[in-house]
Amino acid sequence: MSKQLEQVKELIQLREKARLGGGQKRIDAQHAKGKCTARERITMLLDEGSFEEFDMFVTHRSTNFGMQERVILGDGVVTGYGTIEGRLVYVFAQDFTVFGGSLSETMAMKINKIMVQAMKVGAPLIGINDSGGARIQEGVNALAGYGEIFQNNILASGVIPQISALFGPCAGGAVYSPALTDFTIMMKGSSYMFLTGPKVVKTVTGEDVTQEDLGGAQVHASKSGVAHFAVETEDEGIELIRNLLSYLPQNNMEEAPYVECSDPIDRLEDSLNQIIPDSPNKPYNMYDVIQNIVDHGDFLEVHKDYATNIITGFARFNGSSVGIVANQPRVLAGVLDINASRKAARFVRFCDAFNIPIITLVDVPGFLPGTQQEYGGVILHGAKLLYAYGEATVPKITVILRKAYGGAYIVMGSKHLGGDLNYAWPSAEIAVMGPSGAIEVLYGKEIAGTEDPALFVAEKEKEYRDNFANPYNAARFGYIDDVIEPRNTRFRIIRALQLLSTKKQALPPKKHDNLPL
Ligand code: HXC
Repeated sequence: MSKQLEQVKELIQLREKARLGGGQKRIDAQHAKGKCTARERITMLLDEGSFEEFDMFVTHRSTNFGMQERVILGDGVVTGYGTIEGRLVYVFAQDFTVFGGSLSETMAMKINKIMVQAMKVGAPLIGINDSGGARIQEGVNALAGYGEIFQNNILASGVIPQISALFGPCAGGAVYSPALTDFTIMMKGSSYMFLTGPKVVKTVTGEDVTQEDLGGAQVHASKSGVAHFAVETEDEGIELIRNLLSYLPQNNMEEAPYVECSDPIDRLEDSLNQIIPDSPNKPYNMYDVIQNIVDHGDFLEVHKDYATNIITGFARFNGSSVGIVANQPRVLAGVLDINASRKAARFVRFCDAFNIPIITLVDVPGFLPGTQQEYGGVILHGAKLLYAYGEATVPKITVILRKAYGGAYIVMGSKHLGGDLNYAWPSAEIAVMGPSGAIEVLYGKEIAGTEDPALFVAEKEKEYRDNFANPYNAARFGYIDDVIEPRNTRFRIIRALQLLSTKKQALPPKKHDNLPL
């Protein structure tokens, strides 16, 4: 065999060794837990044969605790690039078979390398996390590695979409990388995120809590809002990443991809002309409205289980991506509260950063009153949503379906915060507050003094409704561009999007804003 052939053979052997990561025994252990390996996950994620791996021969440099005897090719992360539906993406997947995927200095170097390159070429970054956190043997070098990853997450924010999938542990400060990215997907039963684990919690607070109850997928998807999606299986998580990316542009200088649309743009939905119940206090399901107006009824919901009084997610109109923000009258009457404000504000800001028009469907009775909300800072959190709408320069189209009361009317994509096209259904009620509250404030003393208070209130409420509980008062002032037939909503939104497709709007120059945090 020639020397060159021997060299080629050696390369092939080294590659095979690197592909085994921490070895067959640990791969089997990973499989026994129902988990895939880093490379299997990447293979599932990317278009077949498209993966190009970087830094397969990188090894850690630690000599603490005999680590020089335990050197594994590629160390604990697989990095590189490939395509999803033909579009370039960068990906890293932590390899739990190598020191539990714990982060070494060189692993951080590998991850940072692709992050920097993803920003330069303008392609999304996907991180698959499955790690015991900072590699204990490396001390401050591992911490430094995390710090540099965080720094790159921050620099990449608003430049390229960043998606984190958690298919295993993510503990300690390591949680801050997913938290800095745009979307976090967690797998039920196998992934968890917390700053301090159950043992430390028990020592410090005396609280007994399981890993799942402290930081499992369901907890973060429904209670904390840290996770945007909770999935049952790794396959589902991978499919979700592919689907999510189909709605997003490659970077902040591009538009989301156009998808051929066979759903007629002028499809009339007669059911929408009858969806609003006669009683103003009776709910209806906002999902029915969304599904009826978007292309083919396809809606990718973000934060489905968190703050369910507001709905956020991606859909398409005539093949173009939009972000939808909609109050849900079925949950807490669609009221805005702390969590709903935070959820929607983050979503609006994401859409604005990545050139995705925002469609707002309004049915909101106001902000949730009470000490719990006030002490929790609902003023500041509500201000976040206000701010997000007010600074967004993408096309903003708003449809008021029913209630739009008080501050919540202003917040939810109103004309006054730069709404480009604001429509209302004939059922819209736009006023400072609902009739009963208003009559109480205006006629509190008279109500007490009158012979038949119930009749008096009913009469005054009717007067109030006749005056304010309609869209025409706002339309008279030009705050509503048109009152539209509900069944025609899809067509009107598509026309509005076409009109606004060349919209350009600049904000005053500044170093950065001072969003009320
Ligand atoms: C070095 C680690 C490690 C770590 C796991 N391993 N975590 N090695 N540093 N942080 C190694 C184990 O020694 C073991 O090696 C292998 O990975 C698999 O781990 P097991 O414990 O056998 O697996 P399992 O039972 O599934 O438990 C997984 C685990 C547990 C829950 C993640 O390993 C664990 O609790 N690890 C420590 C978690 C932690 O506290 N990390 C530090 C967080 S603080 P062998 O050779 O036996 O296979 C932090 C700071 C970041 O991350 C700061 C950023 C600002």
